[in-house]
Amino acid sequence: MPESAAALLERARRPVSLSGAGLSAESGIPTFRDQLGGGLWSQYDPAQLATPQGFSRDPKLVTEWYRWRRKLVADAEPNAGHHALAACAEMVHVTQNVDDLLERAGARNILHLHGVLGRDRCIGGCGFTEAIDMAEPPPLRACPRCGKWLRPGVVWFGETLPTDAWTAAVSACSACEALLVVGTSATVYPAADLIRVAKQAGAKILVVNTATSEASHLADVELIGPAGELLPKILSWAL
Ligand code: OAD
Repeated sequence: MPESAAALLERARRPVSLSGAGLSAESGIPTFRDQLGGGLWSQYDPAQLATPQGFSRDPKLVTEWYRWRRKLVADAEPNAGHHALAACAEMVHVTQNVDDLLERAGARNILHLHGVLGRDRCIGGCGFTEAIDMAEPPPLRACPRCGKWLRPGVVWFGETLPTDAWTAAVSACSACEALLVVGTSATVYPAADLIRVAKQAGAKILVVNTATSEASHLADVELIGPAGELLPKILSWAL
């Protein structure tokens, strides 16, 4: 099975990866909904911590939670899965992850559908945005331009995805011959829809996950196991 996945990816022109939290799990970053338990959304309330309404209610609580997550990422290192993806120079990496582990593994062509932890932006309409140091993330603070609160530059539930990243992701998935879906439950839309977009455009769908997922029924090849072990095998031609 890994051989056929490897052959499909090696042959594909314009291959695309679509990754989720499972890609960074072996770097010590918790997932959101793991079948084995321990996902963030089984311990924390997404309505409180990942919505604009939750931020309006308690901006300090939300900022502190993201400070914790930012420090986790700063202390983490890219794993073998990130490095294997990064070695595929032609691949477009569409990711739902807000960490910077693909970047630190040396990947280029990364589209962050759900924003990034490494930036803050103003909740008002002034457009202020600023890179932050994830090793020493700032506490809640006011926008230097307009005085409203600054918030993490991630996409929260009920918000639209960054237009540029989404448009580029749809275009890449519509034109690819193979889509490598890694470590995502494929339950969050519109990101999960990209699998259907690629399939309908004729791409082969390869799924790597430690368990079956909502992507399973669309898979041409499904490999069950950790991304850090499987990706170096199926992408060995690029390494
Ligand atoms: P989930 O937590 O929903 O799913 C993680 C998936 O990774 C599960 O299907 C696991 O089985 C799988 N997995 C865990 N460890 C793995 C490993 N070592 N190798 C391979 N697979 C592994 O994460 P996402 O699908 O990324 O959104 O979640 C999508 C969005 O939901 C996130 O971007 C986030 C969340 O709410 C926002 O914050 C906007």
